[in-house]
Amino acid sequence: MSLFITFEGPEGSGKTTQLQALRGYLEGQGFRVYAPREPGGTRIGDLVRNIVLNPEYTEMQPAAEILLFSAARAQLVGQEIRPRLAQGQIVLCDRYADSTLAYQGYGLGLDLQTLRVITAFATGGLQPDLTFLLDVPVEVGLARKRGQDANEWNRMERRQREYHERVRAGYREMAEADPARWCVLDATRPFDDVQAAIRAEVNRLISGLSEVR
Ligand code: TYD
Repeated sequence: MSLFITFEGPEGSGKTTQLQALRGYLEGQGFRVYAPREPGGTRIGDLVRNIVLNPEYTEMQPAAEILLFSAARAQLVGQEIRPRLAQGQIVLCDRYADSTLAYQGYGLGLDLQTLRVITAFATGGLQPDLTFLLDVPVEVGLARKRGQDANEWNRMERRQREYHERVRAGYREMAEADPARWCVLDATRPFDDVQAAIRAEVNRLISGLSEVR
């Protein structure tokens, strides 16, 4: 049984902590789990991450930004995700192609159809079985981040508040358009409630797959 699940959300949604908690739970049940974060997860991807998120590169062009995120993703999918899915592992990815649609498409206002083509090329068309959207109002998410040192904010986090509003609205629009794949969770709820909802959804998916077999 292989399963590809992605976690998406605006800044400060807590998706990374939720993903790690799910990982621990699934490993406790004996599943083999691979949990990379994007951009990154490979040697090449980590190098790209250091370029694309580095606040020093204020001159970066939107097309370059998209192609860098996509290059890191292409490497991760080919080198790590596909082989592990082929071995029957569970892959939990901290951000995936929907981040490009939300941040570069809805956020920067770039053509969504073009981005879908680039993304499909980068991933060879690999789509998640399930995507969690950890939805949080922009002020709440940014306030959670504000606790951290603003000098440490990456290039995306430094963008204006309106940009992050478009990102959030974009996520919600994508989720609404494809409810079969997306599961939207209110990330302002207590951590344990959100984690319980995530586990319930994943368990439903796993038992559905075992019935098919
Ligand atoms: P990261 O430090 O991993 O933080 P987060 O916890 O928010 O995932 O930063 C990744 C940043 O890159 C985040 O601001 C979202 C952005 N991003 C894009 O703009 N496009 C993409 O395709 C991806 C994968 C990430």
